[in-house]
This record gives sequence, C-alpha cells and structure tokens, in this order.
Amino acid sequence: MPKVLTILGTRPEIIKLSPLMPLLAERCEHVLVHSGQHYSYDVDAIFFHELQLPDPQHALGVGSATHGEQTARILARLEPILFSEKPAAVLVQGDTNTAMAGALCASKIDIPVVHLESGGRSFNRAMPEEQNRIIIDHIAALLLAADEIATTNLRNEGLPEEIIATIGSTAIDAVLRNREHAQNSTILEQLELREKNYLLLTLHRAENTIPSVLPGMVEAINTLAETYTIVFPVHPRTAAALKQQGLTLSPKLCLSKPLGYLDTLRLIGSATAVLTDSGGLQEEAGVLQTPLLITRNETEWRYLVDAGSAVLIGNRKEEMLAGAATWLAPEGLAQLRAHPAPVYAGAAERGAEAILRLVGG
Ligand code: UD1
Repeated sequence: MPKVLTILGTRPEIIKLSPLMPLLAERCEHVLVHSGQHYSYDVDAIFFHELQLPDPQHALGVGSATHGEQTARILARLEPILFSEKPAAVLVQGDTNTAMAGALCASKIDIPVVHLESGGRSFNRAMPEEQNRIIIDHIAALLLAADEIATTNLRNEGLPEEIIATIGSTAIDAVLRNREHAQNSTILEQLELREKNYLLLTLHRAENTIPSVLPGMVEAINTLAETYTIVFPVHPRTAAALKQQGLTLSPKLCLSKPLGYLDTLRLIGSATAVLTDSGGLQEEAGVLQTPLLITRNETEWRYLVDAGSAVLIGNRKEEMLAGAATWLAPEGLAQLRAHPAPVYAGAAERGAEAILRLVGG
C-alpha cells in the first residue's frame, strides 16, 4: 500500500486537511507529522479534538521563532523522518511556514510534493504567506487548486497543465460537515449575544499587526464599537502586538480568547456580518451566507468579491470606517445578502483521488 505523509502545524491547516486526511487513511497508509508551529491548546489541540482527528505519529515541536529559524528547525527535524518513513508523497496545505518548509524538505530529497490550496495569490509579495505559496507551487508535483482563478494563476506562472487539478476548497467541505454540529455550540449564550445582532471580527495577518497599520485599525475598531456589538476573539500574534505597541481596545468590545472551530462556525452563521483578514473565515462566511467585509486590500478568495457577497474595505482607519458605513448600513447588508457566494462541495474526495493517482494507489 502506498504511503502518504502529511505535515501540518497551524490552526487553518488542521481545519482544511480535516475532510481529506480520513479519506487518505482509508485508502493508503497515512502518516501525520505536526510541526508544532502552533502549540497552545486554543489554536491547536482543540481542533484535533473537535474534528476527531488521530494524534500525529511525529511531533517536531518547533514552536515560535523568526521565519528563518522556524523554517530551519522544520527542515532539520523533518528530514530524518522522511528518510525513515520513505513516503511516496508529502502533502502540505496552504501557505504557512510549516507547509513551505515541509515541501522544501521533501522536494530536496526527491519525494513528490502535493500542494492543497495551490494557486491562491494575493499578488502582494510582501506577505510571508504569498512567498510561501509561490515557493511551494514551483516545487510541487501535484497542484490541487481550489477554483478556476487559482488554476489560471498557476498557468500564468508557466506551471504544467498536467500537474494541476482543480478540485474545489476543502474549507467548504469542512463547514458542510460540521455546520449542524456547530448548532449545539452555546457560545452565543456564553457571550450573551443575540442572533444577527453583532459583528464578528478577527485580525491576525502580519501586514495588519505592524506599528504602521495596527494603531489605525484599532482606532477604527474602537469607533465601530460605539455603534455595534463586536465580538473579537484575539489571536496570540495580535495580543502580543497590541501589548508591544501599547494599544488599548475599547471596553465596549466583546473580547475573547481564540475560539474552537464549532464555536467559530456558530458565531459566523449568526453574525450580522463578519470583518476579517483571515483566509479561512472568508470562505466560512461565504458558505454560511453571512455578509463579509475583508479588512485587507486584496484577497486570495476573489470569487467571494466577484459573487458580491464580500467587499474589501482595506486596513487604514478612514477607508475601514467608510467601508463599514456603506456596507453595514441596511442597504449595504441587503446587497451583500442578495448575492450569495457559490458553494462547491466534494473537494476532499477529488483531492484524495488525485493523490492516489499520483502515488499509484
Ligand atoms: C500562521 C500563518 C498564517 C495563518 C496563521 C493562522 C505563517 C507565515 N503564517 O500565522 O498564514 O493564517 O498561522 O493562525 O506561517 N503563538 C502562541 N501560541 C501558538 C502559536 C503562536 O502564543 O500556539 C504566538 C507566538 O507568540 C508567535 C505568534 O503567535 O510568535 C505568531 O505565530 P506564527 O507561528 O508566526 O503564526 P501566525 O501568526 O499564527
């Protein structure tokens, strides 16, 4: 039986690989490696528990570090495992340092790399994630793209047609599998929220937490908190940046620690609108048909903006407030709701089939 080794390390990788890994475990020998890029219970173990995933066979324990150090630790600690496990392919997802280091390590010793969520581009090369995506796509042997936009990006970069498969997004499969279960979440009651009577905010991207950007975003958020009930689960990176930059959030915000997947789905589905810079939340809002305001200047999920269910409102104070004034007004919200995003299920199944074809299973 062919062996496929998956390496993951962060919250979005666990969620987006969750529909695919059980299919691989059924049809081939599947080995899971955890880099330890994320390690706190709130952003790691809770997702294994909620999504009923088996414990990884190997844990690299790399923890937090600079980009170079984190990447180097993964390379050095993964290589001996690849030598001993001898997988027929290594699967990585998305754009994290774990995915890039995992792909580089495998490719250097001639093990074919499969890239799930291939071809996503923000066209902003300053983002660490954009650099990671491009590197992975150009060393991988099988590119599993989420949509035609991603596939076109890969073609435009000269990548060969025969290694590209457009399979859809496993983030959508994950929502469809878990949305009913999420209805049992008591997070609304815990936070004393009412259905369709609050905004959900998340913010963690590197380009939004730097001192030239974060203070303006905090001012915009604090201003919005005068008018709206805003729930804000704070990512560890953002909490550290707020402290370091001496920024204070309005006491009117409903702050929480990072939340689990089921609580997050419940909060997205019941919100008036979602304001986020997260990639995963954008797609989840699309499936759950909640109006979406993206606090960035570009998005890898352009299909949401093209459909009309999402808008880009930027990350500067004035443009964020102007965007919020337009799109959170009743007419703005009605317009976003009138254009639901398309939902294509079955990416995990198509991805598993393509991987098995690659490894001869
Ligand atoms: C990473 C990914 C990003 C993804 C995000 C999801 C890269 C380059 N970025 O960013 O694409 O959207 O994960 O969360 O890989 N920390 C903790 N506990 C943890 C993990 C991190 O406290 O379990 C803190 C540490 O202080 C750390 C900081 O958060 O320095 C940022 O962690 P990092 O590994 O840089 O990743 P993210 O910002 O989470």
